[in-house]
Amino acid sequence: MYPSDILPKVYPKEVTEQATGGDVGSYDEVDEILNSNIFSVMLNRRSQRKFEDREIETWKVEIIYAAADTAPTAGGFQGFEIFNITREETKGKLAMAANNQPYVNAPLVIVFCSNPNRIKMKFSNDILQKFSLQDATLAAGYAQMAAHALGLSSIWIGMFDEKSVKGIINTDLQPSSILCIGYPKKMLLPKPKRKLTDLIHNV
Ligand SMILES: Cc1cc2nc3c(=O)[nH]c(=O)nc-3n(C[C@H](O)[C@H](O)[C@H](O)COP(=O)(O)O)c2cc1C
Repeated sequence: MYPSDILPKVYPKEVTEQATGGDVGSYDEVDEILNSNIFSVMLNRRSQRKFEDREIETWKVEIIYAAADTAPTAGGFQGFEIFNITREETKGKLAMAANNQPYVNAPLVIVFCSNPNRIKMKFSNDILQKFSLQDATLAAGYAQMAAHALGLSSIWIGMFDEKSVKGIINTDLQPSSILCIGYPKKMLLPKPKRKLTDLIHNV
């Protein structure tokens, strides 16, 4: 199976020229992943800060990006951009901009930025900013879930110096999160949460 056979299954809209090459899982492996139970993925995801020094297969990276692109966006305008960090040097700089959090140097590092300019709706700038921030955040959340379904782990980085990150990735757009993904050194158990009755406020 080629990556170009996988992407249409998860994302029927488009298959790009780039969707070729790289190791591809067997039919069984790919189908099993594409049929993952969403509840099991959500319930078992844990933040991971220790990654194996192992490259992520190209087809898995493609599915992560395709999954990010399935997220709902305000007006369907996709008010966000994805920066795929390829250079080790850039990852190092991002780690420094993120309060020296070393795990930002993960095998796959993605910066999600909001792009209000894409949202062609007649609302105030404040609203468009808010929409695009939500677009970028949701996309990162979808990517994080996809990563877990693919047997990977991730850490969401929200603590970073925005100005530095903008300079490092050379954009004027506002970075919303940095998602760091890799094979976990050890799968962790889910963290306990508040009781739903404490979380939910009936009004
Ligand atoms: C908005 C946001 C910002 C976060 N920023 C960081 C961060 O800068 N560094 C970090 O190590 N974890 C960060 N996290 C991860 C949280 O610490 C983690 O999700 C939380 O402890 C719950 O653990 P869990 O994801 O394993 O359920 C962030 C998560 C979110 C949603």
